[in-house]
Amino acid sequence: MGLSTGRDGGLMDGKRGLVVGIANDRSYAYFIAESLIRHGAECLFTHLPGDKMQRRCFRAIKDLGIDDPWLESMDAGSDEDLDRVFERIARDFGRIDFLVHSIAFADKDWLKEGHFAATPREVFSMALDISAYTYMAMASRAAPLMCSGGSGKSRGSGDPGSSEPSGGGAMLAMSYYGAQKAVPAYNVMGVAKAALESAARYLAYELGPKNIRVNTISGGPLRTLSALAVGRFTEIAQWVEKKSPLGRNVRGAEVGETAAFLLSDLASGVTGQNIYVDCGYSMVGL
Ligand SMILES: NC(=O)c1ccc[n+]([C@@H]2O[C@H](COP(=O)([O-])OP(=O)(O)OC[C@H]3O[C@@H](n4cnc5c(N)ncnc54)[C@H](O)[C@@H]3O)[C@@H](O)[C@H]2O)c1
Repeated sequence: MGLSTGRDGGLMDGKRGLVVGIANDRSYAYFIAESLIRHGAECLFTHLPGDKMQRRCFRAIKDLGIDDPWLESMDAGSDEDLDRVFERIARDFGRIDFLVHSIAFADKDWLKEGHFAATPREVFSMALDISAYTYMAMASRAAPLMCSGGSGKSRGSGDPGSSEPSGGGAMLAMSYYGAQKAVPAYNVMGVAKAALESAARYLAYELGPKNIRVNTISGGPLRTLSALAVGRFTEIAQWVEKKSPLGRNVRGAEVGETAAFLLSDLASGVTGQNIYVDCGYSMVGL
């Protein structure tokens, strides 16, 4: 079940965690899982409910060298689904070391230029719920599993120097530059990503005393199912290729390797950060 192939081993040896967001072998979550597994981690997975989703996700995981994955159905918009998945992880494993949140959703009718100000309330709420709130919903359920066997202390309770927090872990979510700047057609998703990045900082503050680190990666444009829902995706990708210092778009595997670094002990001092993996595009002024 959910076995690591441990091909290279090393960096993530002995670590186990949940990867949420593999739709197929083009998903950012697929590349993240590939890196984690290659570095020695054991990954558990979820897919969106439905046979087709299950089949696609299973096929991608098989491609990662895992024939008998730990794989559960989960709609992150359902508290019952979240509870069921994290309770099963608690039952089956007792403890996890990392969490990858690589999901987002917004009604694509509102990811078109000129379709921002009139965004309906329910479209806004759904985008913020699935793309940002669910990081908190997963974090609150994952944190106790990262502390199990440990004695994490609460901020402000007692002498901060009196006991070392034991256990701990790391969490990661995927963001995009549209959180910081107005990217044409990204619209409500930009607002959701701003909320996601901010949520990561508050989570990092609250969970830090338990030795749990919380970060986001801001990935460059990658041709995935979700990306194609953004009205001007192709144009955005062409623009990045032209303007980024590296003169190209990022590869999924490059985000995967940064994710492995952030979830590993190499990044033990990094929390509350948003790391750009975008070939440098975000720092260019013109
Ligand atoms: N592709 C890009 O250009 C790009 C750039 C920066 C950030 N990102 C972010 O990367 C993350 C992954 O997206 P991707 O580009 O790999 O696309 P993708 O379509 O491959 O993955 C999106 C995932 O979200 C999942 N999802 C949607 N609603 C869900 C729900 N209610 N419950 C559970 N899962 C749900 C889908 O099942 C899918 O696995 C997203 O947060 C996205 O915003 C993507």
